[in-house]
Amino acid sequence: MTTLGINIDHIANVRQARLATEPDPVQLAYLAELGGADGITIHLREDRRHIQERDLNLLRQTIGSRLNLEMAATKEMLDIALGTKPDMVTLVPEKREEITTEGGLNIEQSKANIKNIIEILKSNNIPTSLFIDPIATQIEASLEVGAKWIEIHTGSYAMSKLNKQEFEFSKIKEGVIKARSLGLRVNAGHGLTYQNVEPIASIEGIEELNIGHTIIARAIAVGLKDAVKEMKYLILNPRKEPFFGS
Ligand code: PXP
Repeated sequence: MTTLGINIDHIANVRQARLATEPDPVQLAYLAELGGADGITIHLREDRRHIQERDLNLLRQTIGSRLNLEMAATKEMLDIALGTKPDMVTLVPEKREEITTEGGLNIEQSKANIKNIIEILKSNNIPTSLFIDPIATQIEASLEVGAKWIEIHTGSYAMSKLNKQEFEFSKIKEGVIKARSLGLRVNAGHGLTYQNVEPIASIEGIEELNIGHTIIARAIAVGLKDAVKEMKYLILNPRKEPFFGS
């Protein structure tokens, strides 16, 4: 059975747009779990553009499912992970100017660093997953650096036009088969939507899908009508008593 990890960064995006206290990803993670989330995923970015360390610390204490911390392979992030002990770390590439994670890790380029981080996390009982494109050399390199898990980047599939989608899909399927044959455990995610998730969910061997943007977008769509109704009610029926004490 494939499980679902919900990426709640986009809730924090809305909060940070106003530097406000709502919507609070910590409170809303509870609703994601009520809806059936098997895990909560957050990406603590170097520039703290959405998730804050406060969120990480509180989620560590409050969620009942699993906490998957996406982070760059840096000393700063390693120290934060060791201090908070998420259930899993997913190493992702990070560029300051990007809108979202644009591609998988190039493990070849930073083998020693990634290997070192995986070892340190492992000795602290934190498993590491590597976010990679479905490319044979990256899958092999993941094994070489000691990863037990990978997350296959589904972005190219998700972004492709219909005539290319089957090709991108087959690359993911082959990647899963290869990774499993090497004994790696496999998650997948990025760009998945209500329209394109089913073929990916049908691939045997994927343990968890990490999905964020489309679910938060859908939550706005299905929740907006009631939110407006509640505000309209308050405007049309203000309480009669004094509002600011006696
Ligand atoms: N997996 C990883 C490694 C990601 O970086 C992201 C986006 O933060 C996701 C999954 C979820 O992607 P989306 O928000 O497009 O569903």
